[in-house]
Amino acid sequence: MGFLQLVLPAAAAFQAAAAHVASPIDIADRVFSRQAAVNGSWPYGPFSTKDRDIVNSRGEAVAWAGVNWPGSGETMVPEGVEWSSVEEILDLVKSVGFNFIRLTYAIEMIDQIYERNGSDVPLEVAMITGLGYENGTMVTNEIVAKNKGWTKDTGRFEVWDRIAEAALERGLYIHPDVHVGKAQWCCNNTDGNAWFDDYNFPVKNWHRGLQYVANWAKKHPNVVSMSLRNELRRAINSTAPTSTTGYNWLTFIGNYTAATDAIYSANPDILVTWSGLQYDQDLSALTSGLNLNTAPLYKGDAIRDGYRRKPVVFDLGSHPWGDKVVYELHLYSMSENLDTGNCPIIEAELYQSGFNALGIEAPAACNITKDCPKALRQTPVILSEFGSAQDTSIFNDTLQGCLRQFTTQNNVSWAMWSLAGSYRIRSGGQGVADTWALTNYEWDGWQFEEGIEKWWKPWAKASLSQAQVSVTS
Ligand SMILES: *[C@@H]1O[C@H](CO)[C@@H](O)[C@H](O)[C@H]1NC(C)=O
Ligand SMILES: *[C@@H]1O[C@H](CO)[C@@H](O)[C@H](O)[C@H]1NC(C)=O
Ligand SMILES: *[C@@H]1O[C@H](CO)[C@@H](O)[C@H](O)[C@H]1NC(C)=O
Ligand SMILES: *[C@@H]1O[C@H](CO)[C@@H](O)[C@H](O)[C@H]1NC(C)=O
Ligand SMILES: *[C@@H]1O[C@H](CO)[C@@H](O)[C@H](O)[C@H]1NC(C)=O
Ligand SMILES: *[C@@H]1O[C@H](CO)[C@@H](O)[C@H](O)[C@H]1NC(C)=O
Ligand SMILES: *[C@@H]1O[C@H](CO)[C@@H](O)[C@H](O)[C@H]1NC(C)=O
Ligand SMILES: *[C@@H]1O[C@H](CO)[C@@H](O)[C@H](O)[C@H]1NC(C)=O
Ligand SMILES: *[C@@H]1O[C@H](CO)[C@@H](O)[C@H](O)[C@H]1NC(C)=O
Repeated sequence: MGFLQLVLPAAAAFQAAAAHVASPIDIADRVFSRQAAVNGSWPYGPFSTKDRDIVNSRGEAVAWAGVNWPGSGETMVPEGVEWSSVEEILDLVKSVGFNFIRLTYAIEMIDQIYERNGSDVPLEVAMITGLGYENGTMVTNEIVAKNKGWTKDTGRFEVWDRIAEAALERGLYIHPDVHVGKAQWCCNNTDGNAWFDDYNFPVKNWHRGLQYVANWAKKHPNVVSMSLRNELRRAINSTAPTSTTGYNWLTFIGNYTAATDAIYSANPDILVTWSGLQYDQDLSALTSGLNLNTAPLYKGDAIRDGYRRKPVVFDLGSHPWGDKVVYELHLYSMSENLDTGNCPIIEAELYQSGFNALGIEAPAACNITKDCPKALRQTPVILSEFGSAQDTSIFNDTLQGCLRQFTTQNNVSWAMWSLAGSYRIRSGGQGVADTWALTNYEWDGWQFEEGIEKWWKPWAKASLSQAQVSVTS
């Protein structure tokens, strides 16, 4: 861990880059290159994929079980740190037996660094901008009081550094996830964050933000992966609801390929997770090798002459980053189009949606859904969001029970939504409680202790026991 002190913080690297009118990526490459040499201890990066598995540099299959930590709200600082220190929060996460945190963020967090000519946004500015003067000042003081070493001028990426470093000490992976472009509660079809070049989703800014985070990751050995984008979906303009923005598999693959190229040029070591269409429920055209001109897509914009065009089939293996891509899928009871009321059907749907890429056997109900093609190629697929109320109903919830069975039987990595028992701001309200969260409102214990003991601990244990589970030494 000694090298952590040797490298410049990302913001400083960026400033240096701005001063010399060089690309921040070139500079960061030089600054951070020594990291590559320091990979002889946990988690033994860099990671890559091999058939259905994520493997470390020793070739061992790695499994993840964990939780989403929201950080893409208006203040763009991970929730909860005004209630408990970063270390206390990570101790809670660790105590469940989790090893993985999907840390959500907004691309706006990086946009603001560029707007400020390379300097990051200090905590107090972030809080006052997000919460107003009174609450912003108060919450800043609370954050500083809880987290030794921080001041009102601590930058957002310094908060991230602290999280990543404390997570490394605990043997936890940090997976940065672009939740939105403009910081806010996610997601719906009209929020401007839905699809490429939607009004809060400028593709250029997105690439720039991804590259910034890919560079930041180089100084944190436990940041072995990052996501491209959360829950793509049809963008709907409420005043012109029939307008189209090219919501289909072709524009999807064009944009995902370009964005993965952008990350790969900044950091060729990091794994990139690809989430699917219709709120990350669907990667079927990719995994099943369908013709992207004609593959079915719920609410998709048809390519009318698709059958006359030369077929386009996505071939992951043909890209230089072919062994760096991991697929991720979500499933909630609010799904608009999938049946979540019966486990055999859910399993058949999961297989069809993309879990076929694990090379698992087609579930029994495939004889009913009759849509379970074998995958073109084996690729890891993780379940990176799902969730429900954290109360006794979890024990009797068909979907939750089914996901638990599916992930443990097929050793699928997963992250539940979410950790955050309260949000400093969400959908216009401040101090918003969340009954779907693991922590209590005060982030100093659990919302539903019995669920932690009887649901999450045994599930995490079962998921991680088959895999390499070593911790930092
Ligand atoms: C260390 O990382 C480098 C570069 O990322 C990689 O080529 C090498 O195989 C790794 N070595 C070990 C022992 O993991
Ligand atoms: C950033 O630099 C430009 C050009 O030097 C300057 O006009 C602008 O005021 C600076 N912005 C900030 C926030 O410092
Ligand atoms: C969609 O999200 C936007 C931004 O958060 C919000 O203003 C709007 O009310 C939401 N619409 C619906 C139908 O939930
Ligand atoms: C929605 O469509 C209208 C009419 O075409 C257009 O004027 C407006 O800018 C669009 N709004 C957004 C947010 O894209
Ligand atoms: C990205 O998506 C947008 C919106 O659908 C589309 O206009 C653009 O052509 C796509 N880019 C690529 C490289 O496919
Ligand atoms: C599908 O398979 C299951 C178990 O293999 C069997 O019980 C069921 O009758 C079959 N259904 C149909 C429609 O073939
Ligand atoms: C709900 O789950 C609990 C614990 O698994 C079980 O004891 C109880 O019988 C279940 N209740 C119903 C209505 O299924
Ligand atoms: C300040 O935060 C509290 C919750 O912590 C909230 O009830 C109150 O409305 C907020 N004040 C303003 C002005 O938003
Ligand atoms: C998951 O199971 C497959 C098949 O049994 C095995 O090849 C793989 O190593 C396992 N992965 C993990 C992470 O345990």
